[in-house]
Parts: sequence; structure tokens; C-alpha cells
Amino acid sequence: DLSSGKPPESNDLSDTAAADASADRSGPTIQSVLTQNGFVCRHLVIVPDDEISIRTVVLGWCDSGDIDWIVTTGGTGFGVRDRTPEAIKPLLEREASGLVQLMLSASLQATPLAALSRPVAGTIRRTLVVTLPGSVKAVQENLAALLGVVGHALDLVR
Ligand code: MTE
Repeated sequence: DLSSGKPPESNDLSDTAAADASADRSGPTIQSVLTQNGFVCRHLVIVPDDEISIRTVVLGWCDSGDIDWIVTTGGTGFGVRDRTPEAIKPLLEREASGLVQLMLSASLQATPLAALSRPVAGTIRRTLVVTLPGSVKAVQENLAALLGVVGHALDLVR
């Protein structure tokens, strides 16, 4: 129930933003888009591009049992420090390849550079996890695609 609001999470993955929180614009963009769409965003955490740090935060929230949706931003590309998919994919209990296809197909309409993102999505316990690219524009485009279907997905996961 989105209006009564089990909160989705915004979890930022970036060395730059971890060193300087004011450098993070994508996390606040996620919070703002989701809040406008009826979600309660309770947590925003910036972690370095480091698999252990990412897993610790994500698993902690999934184990808490009261988080519907974790949205990460950043670290999905081909840069040597981009490890978000590697951090999250082994944790997924059920992969949501349809959500990945939805994000990529919508993103490719916007830019061929979307092919440089390696998103993963799926469920861990009763939490849906999706990994968005790091730019504000990419976050907006990916969320626009996801918001058409995610409410129904979350109803089924809870
Ligand atoms: N997806 C959308 N919808 N819009 C974008 O502008 N940028 C791409 C891609 N996905 C983009 C996008 C670019 S330029 C990169 S490098 C990859 O996402 C990976 O971004 P990340 O490493 O910040 O996660």
C-alpha cells in the first residue's frame, strides 16, 4: 500500500558522494520523485563503491522487514570502481529480469549510452531492490519507467 507507505529506500553508491555528501544529487532526486509519487522515503545513505559496504547496508535493510523498496544509484557502469551489480546480484533471492529489461529499454529510448549501465533487480526477503545509474537524468528516466509497474510488484512482494 503505497499511500500508507512502507518506505522505499534511497541508497547512494559513490566514492565521491561518500567523501562529500553535498556532491550527491541523485539520491535527493530519487527521494523527491518517490515522495511525489506517494512513497515514504525514510533513509538515504551514501556508501563508497565497495562491495562489502554496499551489501552490509542493503542486507541490513532487507533483514529489518519493514522496507519495501531499495533504490540504489551509481556504480552500474564500466568504470573500474563500478561494483554495484557485483555487490547486489549475489544477494538476490529472485531476479527480476523484466524490471531490468524495462529500465534498459526505456533508457535506450533516451540515449544509446544506457547500454553502458549493467542494472540488476530482484527481491531479497520481502524487499525489492533495483540499481539505477548515477546521473540525475538517468535516475529520472529509470524511475519514470519503473513507477508504471512497481506498485503492483510491491503489492505482490509484501
Ligand atoms: N540511462 C538513462 N536512462 N539515461 C542516461 O543518461 N547514462 C548512461 C547509463 N544509463 C544514462 C543511462 C551512462 S553515460 C553510464 S556511464 C551508465 O548509465 C552507467 O552509469 P553509472 O556508472 O553512474 O551507474
